[in-house]
Amino acid sequence: MTPMTVNDIIHQLSTAHTASRDELVYLLNNITDDEQETLRRAAQTAAREHFGNRVFIRGLIEISSYCKNDCLYCGLRRSNRSAVRYRLTREQILDCCDSGYALGFRTFVLQGGEDAHFTDEVVCGIVREIKRRYPDCAVTLSLGERGFDSLRRLFDAGADRYLLRHETADRTHYGRLHPPQMSFDNRVSTLRFLKALGYQTGAGFMVGSPFQTTENLADDLLLIQELQPQMCGIGPFIPHKDTEFRDFPQGSLRLTLTLLSVIRLLQPRILLPATTALGTIAPNGRELGILHGANVVMPNLSPREHRKDYAIYDNKICTGEEAAECLECLRRRMRYIGYEIVTDRGDYY
Ligand code: SAM
Ligand code: SF4
Ligand code: FES
Repeated sequence: MTPMTVNDIIHQLSTAHTASRDELVYLLNNITDDEQETLRRAAQTAAREHFGNRVFIRGLIEISSYCKNDCLYCGLRRSNRSAVRYRLTREQILDCCDSGYALGFRTFVLQGGEDAHFTDEVVCGIVREIKRRYPDCAVTLSLGERGFDSLRRLFDAGADRYLLRHETADRTHYGRLHPPQMSFDNRVSTLRFLKALGYQTGAGFMVGSPFQTTENLADDLLLIQELQPQMCGIGPFIPHKDTEFRDFPQGSLRLTLTLLSVIRLLQPRILLPATTALGTIAPNGRELGILHGANVVMPNLSPREHRKDYAIYDNKICTGEEAAECLECLRRRMRYIGYEIVTDRGDYY
């Protein structure tokens, strides 16, 4: 059999939405700039077929910078004694939703470290109140690993979606990014459980995390292909000065964009954000993300006084702006490349 070329693999991704591990490794290792442009166009076309020029927005509310975990890459890890810790009150969270709703947000993402303050009772109460005030809105949770009973309670309280990046599909690599108490198996079984419960579920990973190989990335893509999550969050790894990964290089813009395009072609209807991390490593990173097949942006709705303290990596953008300013800024940026931000829940179909 004649070996496949990169262009053959791109064609296969565009038409059959599949690729083998060897093909993915080959593509990621060998793609030239011209071939990347072919891939980008195919991914952008696929996104436009399903979503037109519409970009969905999610209002991100960073509810707590306390975390009991110690992920080696993250500035919020519990052993970072220099991190400033805060948690939002129920009223502050609801205020963020109120102002977000007025701005046109119809999805609220409650994200935070694994903070024992946010018991099931507390989170269920907040979710119920958001759904009572705004029955036309979706609530997404991104609160790390919780027990199966807990996830069921939150779902029954009205949470629609859950984001839990798998971080890496390779068990050994997972072990190098996390302390021994954290388990790859638990991460993946939690993701499967979330999906089975009926959450629109988001997996995802960092690009260029320490020790990552191309084979690891191919396995990430295969896991996405197998799990079929409704959402996938990927962004470059960015070092944080108070973690032991401080001296590792940040993930590459080009590789992140290539991976966004491949994911769009593997799962054409997936909800794929152009992340804040992408906007942090390049001034037009989020625009490039959309042009490479992403279809979601997640402006920050957190109170401005706490923004800088949700410091998962260094130099995070949008820590000084109000939500309305970021929304207007993103609207302008999207218009400039021919896209429109829409007021819509932006569910997976
Ligand atoms: N605690 C929850 C969790 O871990 O799922 C949600 C919050 S956590 C800060 C959200 C995501 O931030 C993680 O899934 C991880 O991929 C990403 N992240 C953490 N540290 C990062 C870094 N240094 N660079 C880029 N992304 C990072
Ligand atoms: Fe905590 Fe999430 Fe950061 Fe890990 S990635 S330390 S769970 S906030
Ligand atoms: Fe926040 Fe541009 S999106 S300042």
